[in-house]
Amino acid sequence: MKLNIAVLPGDGIGPEVTAQAVKVLKAIAMEFNHIFTFKKGLVGACAIDKTGNPLPEETIDICKKADAVLFGAIGDTKYDNDPNAKIRPEQGLLGIRQELGLYTNIRPIIAYEDLLNKSSLKVKQIKDTNILIYRELTGGIYFGKRYLSEDGNTASDTCEYNRFEIERIAHLAFKAAQSRKRKLTLVDKANVLESSRLWRRVVQDIAPQYPNVKLDYMYIDNAAMELIIRPRQFDVILTENMFGDILSEEASVIVGSIGLLASASIGDKYAMFEPIHGAYTKAANKGIANPIASILSVAMLLDHFGLYDEAALVREGVDKSLKLHITTPDLNNKYDNISTTKVGDFIEDFIQNPEETNLNFTNIHLGQSTII
Ligand code: IPM
Ligand code: MG
Repeated sequence: MKLNIAVLPGDGIGPEVTAQAVKVLKAIAMEFNHIFTFKKGLVGACAIDKTGNPLPEETIDICKKADAVLFGAIGDTKYDNDPNAKIRPEQGLLGIRQELGLYTNIRPIIAYEDLLNKSSLKVKQIKDTNILIYRELTGGIYFGKRYLSEDGNTASDTCEYNRFEIERIAHLAFKAAQSRKRKLTLVDKANVLESSRLWRRVVQDIAPQYPNVKLDYMYIDNAAMELIIRPRQFDVILTENMFGDILSEEASVIVGSIGLLASASIGDKYAMFEPIHGAYTKAANKGIANPIASILSVAMLLDHFGLYDEAALVREGVDKSLKLHITTPDLNNKYDNISTTKVGDFIEDFIQNPEETNLNFTNIHLGQSTII
């Protein structure tokens, strides 16, 4: 298969983790005789520094010409505490989601057997957790009308949804549930918000089309607690933009590190794959950023194009790296010298020689790749 992939590394640790993901894609292309080509674009704070615009036209153009987009991370601490900044790196990410019509964001939350003791939660509580969060990504309070009064003392953001926006993601979430444990939980705040009541009405209206899916509802405040106490009760969670943002980050506690969570952002025409973590500026260029979220985003990309064996091999490589403790310090208390690049090298080597893991391990551990 031929795939043109737009690569937007972004800021902070984005470039380091994305480099490992590209490495993995190249290894897959070699092993399975695919042709993957890559074209880089600027986005976020680095784009502001170079062009004054967090999402230059050229970047949009590169993405629209590509089959898929691989996204790193954006953000820079220099903007975080400056509420007066008119131009912000995040506008780059929100802009690309909107430009490409990426209305569905899919975030898998899987408790890996080998990492159960990395979570601050109890093992028996989180074991076997496997949740898919369907987060609406181009509507709600993120994109509604904003207002700041002349005197700067009053402000508002609007959460607005229409039937169409809810229906299209709800159908995808129901379909995903059909191929899993057939349970869909709509998370909202329908006891207070009119927009949430619309979500319930629309989801109830289409539910009869999926009679084999058990639909239930949960208020966001209660879901925030249930997710931690009884995560195994969830199969597919469907929710609006901001609730999904918060809930998915909370869910990283179950998995052990936010550096493990991948996502796919899908629209009718385009698709983008991105770790759910941010730019983590403080960790940039230290070799400590966990590349696994970005590498697992590559697995989701491969799945998206029906390259299931390829995706499975990438996931196997990740599993192996976790089993052998070839992981960055956020997960590692066994070895202290495993860098971002070494994790990428190991998974690359695994893809090239899945049978020779022990050799890979020794070489990677000594800091030498088996590739000459
Ligand atoms: C995410 C991030 C983004 C979001 C930020 C960086 C704008 O937190 O993808 O979860 O809020 O959607
Ligand atoms: Mg977030």
